[in-house]
Amino acid sequence: MTQRVVLHTDIRKGTINRNIYGHFSEHLGRCIYEGIWVGEDSPIPNTKGIRNDVVEALKEIKVPVLRWPGGCFADEYHWKDGIGAREGRKRMINTHWGGAVENNHFGTHEFMELCAMLECEPYINGNVGSGTVQEMSEWVEYLTFNGVSPMAELRTKNGREEAWAVKYFGVGNENWGCGGNMRPEYYADLYRQYQTYVRNYGDNRIHRIACGPNADDYHWMEVLMREAARFMDSITLHYYTVPGATWEQKGAATGFDTAEYFTTLEKALRMEELVTRHSVIMDKYDPEKRVGLIVDEWGTWYDVEPGTNPGFLYQQNSIRDALVAGLTLNIFHKHSDRVRMANIAQTINVLQAVILTEGEKMLLTPTYHVFNMYKVHQDAELLDLTLDSGSYSFGGKEIPEVSASASVTAEGVIHVSLCNLNHAAAAVLPLELRGLAGQAVDIAGTTLAGATIDAHNTFSEPEAVVPQPFTAFKLEGDTITVELPAMSVTVLAITPK
Ligand code: AHR
Repeated sequence: MTQRVVLHTDIRKGTINRNIYGHFSEHLGRCIYEGIWVGEDSPIPNTKGIRNDVVEALKEIKVPVLRWPGGCFADEYHWKDGIGAREGRKRMINTHWGGAVENNHFGTHEFMELCAMLECEPYINGNVGSGTVQEMSEWVEYLTFNGVSPMAELRTKNGREEAWAVKYFGVGNENWGCGGNMRPEYYADLYRQYQTYVRNYGDNRIHRIACGPNADDYHWMEVLMREAARFMDSITLHYYTVPGATWEQKGAATGFDTAEYFTTLEKALRMEELVTRHSVIMDKYDPEKRVGLIVDEWGTWYDVEPGTNPGFLYQQNSIRDALVAGLTLNIFHKHSDRVRMANIAQTINVLQAVILTEGEKMLLTPTYHVFNMYKVHQDAELLDLTLDSGSYSFGGKEIPEVSASASVTAEGVIHVSLCNLNHAAAAVLPLELRGLAGQAVDIAGTTLAGATIDAHNTFSEPEAVVPQPFTAFKLEGDTITVELPAMSVTVLAITPK
């Protein structure tokens, strides 16, 4: 097949919700503690206990929404343990994640402070698995009620008189697994009950989020939509890219071979099928597409780095992860009529992190750079794009060589994101611009490429994989011919003159 892209610059297909660029931070390993929270007395520069370098880096990529406190941790988290004077807060064992002592120093006030610093929306995940309806209801009251009430009084006593604005609230996490091992019928009833007491106080309007399926559990989606769609604003989907054949051998984050590189991308591309098939079920019960699909956990999951706590899920991040990020975000764009939010797991030091830290040192991963390059798509209008991709074959299997997506900003700048998945060859393809009626354009580009299949940044070489200006394109008439380097993510900015 001849490889080419046809871009209709005058056909808009809806807004790419900025929340697709959301993040997820759990009390797991060194994500919250060390990664975000170092405490006010730390020698690491911080504001109110929160690392300055991390805040600055996350602001740069315009994190729109942050999910917290879990994950599996959410269904064993009791929010009242994390308020009041820090020295008096309960200590507990984080049984899910490495048996670490959780001192509850990062709680509701600290999380809301972090969101204020990042200027992002908080997405709080409540506890259904081991929490009560009253506990969830009181958390919402504590967060959002202005007026005379026991929880508003408690909040004021803890130093915050004014209620916060909280839009996104999740009613349980993975309740088919770590959140209570429930059957969908049982959870659907619990969801209906718990969400009743997730109240809207004053002007605050809560977007209620139901726990959706794991990967291809279409039965869970069917039951939840059938029994509870009218009580929810969104439902979640979790899908992780695990290259290995078994959970015990997921594969390494670096030092893998070409077969594993290929399998990782092949498995990441499965997101397209999952979102499509879950959307078909949602369409059956919600043809108006009122209910959003929130992919609030996605990313690569490898074996932990040798010598680290297996419960801390610390892994390196390479150009392979950058490609997973780029192609997955392109898939979410395409489905932005249904996918209203996504949260990569997890922001710092855990799974497909955008930032890694070591003491006071911090590095930006290749995945971070993709989020930075792609931020131009946030809230932009998706454009109609047809991609005839050539194929990329390895070991008798084939996947598309290129993944692409395009959008236009309110100012009229068109951005095209292109991933060349091929580990060995550049992809040369014509990009036909239609609908510009002969208008001249300026073109600029940025690319992120790797010299090897596991090219990555380390604390001694933090800039081994960083974006570079992209100049390998030629404009002739309405066609831009691009030469995408092997294993690269490229974003073009096309500005009509
Ligand atoms: O992100 C790590 C874990 O993966 C989350 O806690 C859980 O929800 C999922 O299984």
